[in-house]
Amino acid sequence: MAQLVRFGVSIESSLLEKFDRHIENKGYSTRSEALRDLIRQELIKKEWEEDDEVAGAITFIFDHHQRGLTSRLTSIQHGYQEIIISSQHIHLDHHNCLEIVAVKGRATEVQKLANALQSVKGVRHGTLSMSSTGKSLG
Ligand code: NI
Repeated sequence: MAQLVRFGVSIESSLLEKFDRHIENKGYSTRSEALRDLIRQELIKKEWEEDDEVAGAITFIFDHHQRGLTSRLTSIQHGYQEIIISSQHIHLDHHNCLEIVAVKGRATEVQKLANALQSVKGVRHGTLSMSSTGKSLG
């Protein structure tokens, strides 16, 4: 485990009160852990902005009855097999399928794949969870 360092922060009391309320609602037990997560979030944002190697998950919902849709979605994923680590298909009900595609690769490639899947006609909802390979997070 990395060495822990303590440092002081000067902050307006009203801002700190708001922060404390916010992190309490989120379930943090200490300011330190909340601050560490905020810092990690900023570092992850930078990874995505600078087109570093990132990791994440693309999630989307579609109706498998729509003609040609399943094969179109599969075909797109085959074009990105170098960045797809794994995928999971869940049959939500008679019509709806949920697919979760775990990805690791250059941020622009991951974003391109997410855009390609989300924009297919018949995909009802899609999200990209932008996370990290963890290497730069200390
Ligand atoms: Ni299904």
